[in-house]
Amino acid sequence: MLESKHLCLTENLVGEILIEDVFDDEGNIIMSKNSVINEYAFQTLLKTKVDKVKIYPSIKENFTVSRNKPELCYKESIIEMQKIMARLATGEGISLNRLDMVSSSLSLEINKNNQIIGNIGRIKDKDEYTYNHSINVAIYSAFIGKLIGLDEEENIELIQASLLHDIGKSKVPKEILNKKGRLTEEEFIIVKKHTTDGYIMSKRISCLTEDVREAILYHHEREDGSGYPHGVKGHKINIYAKIISIADVYDALTSERVYKDKSSPFDAIKEFYRMGIQKFSRPILAIFFKNVVQFYVNCRVKLNDGTIGKIEFVHPQNITGPIVNVEGNYINLSQDNSLKIEEIVE
Ligand SMILES: [Fe+2]
Repeated sequence: MLESKHLCLTENLVGEILIEDVFDDEGNIIMSKNSVINEYAFQTLLKTKVDKVKIYPSIKENFTVSRNKPELCYKESIIEMQKIMARLATGEGISLNRLDMVSSSLSLEINKNNQIIGNIGRIKDKDEYTYNHSINVAIYSAFIGKLIGLDEEENIELIQASLLHDIGKSKVPKEILNKKGRLTEEEFIIVKKHTTDGYIMSKRISCLTEDVREAILYHHEREDGSGYPHGVKGHKINIYAKIISIADVYDALTSERVYKDKSSPFDAIKEFYRMGIQKFSRPILAIFFKNVVQFYVNCRVKLNDGTIGKIEFVHPQNITGPIVNVEGNYINLSQDNSLKIEEIVE
């Protein structure tokens, strides 16, 4: 059971993390669960009529959530995730070795079976981007799995499927994978085959369940039936594939490729809306967006006018327009349409 404590706003809460959403007296959400309270957020809370908030116990209180890593506490794991999300947003990426650390910070253990590590290694030899992308997708997926309450066994399967979702790309010629321009129809047919090829390859990995294999097959299917390889609709797509499809697109949008610049997380969220959120599981999208943006609070950002600022606050009802501090001026990007975040720089 997750313990928590209520703290009155008479105490300094800077550095604490909210265990539940905070609402004003009219019932409007003003801060999201899992937000780290910085100075700006604390001052915002003081201006409301809220007198108590629920926060995670501190590290000092030796609170434990993981049986395997008893030293790890939930608050610490959120702070760790914040660092990792910031790294992913700057394009630094993380190594497979560090995934173990990430998974344990999410109270997970990936299957150490060499079949999985060996197979992902095959992707690395072929295509460095797909290898890094697979690790990133595993991180976002594990985060979503945790948010929607998958149990530990399900989360392990989800991470396995995420790591291997693009394994079929090892059969796609490199020139097509890294082509700068638009793919021809023939080339796109070849790329699409990575789903069915991945499924066939997954049959040879004995430790995988059929649900994991199906997630590999269906990670490009869409809720409205517009995906591939079979064009199946939402009710036929398993939960792992639904999660991986969101993590996959989010990482692709926020990563740099030979043929495109990376988008900021906030532009990536807007892009999901532009593409059509009916293609994805809406409840999963909503919970992912609401939570992932909080990890970028306190990150340094470059705006489109070249200035550097720091994200101070992301209002839960305005997740694509954060408040950015540029040399002491607080700019509300949801109100200033001329400015936007170009990239996260740190
Ligand atoms: Fe894929």
